[in-house]
Amino acid sequence: MTLGREAAPLQADIPIASLSGDEASFAHRLIFSSTNDLDRAWDLGLFYLKTPDNLTLDGARAFGRELIAPDSSYRQIPQYGELEGFIALENNQQTKLALSRERWDQHYPQAIKEFGCQLDAIGIAIMREVLHQSGIPEVLWDPASGGYASGGGTAFLNFVHYDTRHPDWGLRPHTDYGFVTILDASAPGLQVEIEGQFVGVPVLPGHLVINFGEALHFITAHSDHSVGAVVHRVLSQQSSDPVRQGIVYFANPDLDGMLWQFDAAGEEKGSSSVQDLFALLEKNLTE
Ligand SMILES: [Fe+2]
Repeated sequence: MTLGREAAPLQADIPIASLSGDEASFAHRLIFSSTNDLDRAWDLGLFYLKTPDNLTLDGARAFGRELIAPDSSYRQIPQYGELEGFIALENNQQTKLALSRERWDQHYPQAIKEFGCQLDAIGIAIMREVLHQSGIPEVLWDPASGGYASGGGTAFLNFVHYDTRHPDWGLRPHTDYGFVTILDASAPGLQVEIEGQFVGVPVLPGHLVINFGEALHFITAHSDHSVGAVVHRVLSQQSSDPVRQGIVYFANPDLDGMLWQFDAAGEEKGSSSVQDLFALLEKNLTE
């Protein structure tokens, strides 16, 4: 599939948030400049986050650029299932090193593992703000988030490179399946669907792009403030473009666990195993 580069010249009006709080312990609150901005972010499932000052992003970017080299030892990291390892897919432009939290120690340098832990703290802060806004009683946040809100669940830290030798492939429209995605992209190409139209999400220097996924939509669906899962795509990267490197962090529930839907009174409104929910999403995507 060729994604049209001529389409969607519009740019999205995307709210901006920052984290405030204790930089030393990375215990943060997510802050928007107005309630309107927060509401819009929750509806869109998308916002920019001012990059925290102490996030070691430059080192992580350098690591991401280096690991793609033809002689890089990281190319030897085996594939674990479909999601993890050094992966060059046949059906899109991405070549990536993808690893879940329990493998960071084994395969990432110490500094990158620590970078992953910093992203964990950011992901948890965002998750806790969503749960705070949802009205779901705090005692239920752990089961509601498949353990993620208290440091469990599953997290992936992936380093992505777009291979411009395959100019027909970008990344087709999809929603992310998990809770929260944190993206650092080095070049344009990301678009999101707003009111039926794809609009560009420009790279905003000094900011990360945060988007909400299906699992977060699911667990907040019956609460006081539900969130949307944003449909997005990545345009095909041409060889004339700057090389697009990305760092992507996915906050997910425990993949073998359950997701529960609570209302603000703490009453259970529904549930699904994570596997069933993801299988349903996969079916809808491929149909
Ligand atoms: Fe995505």
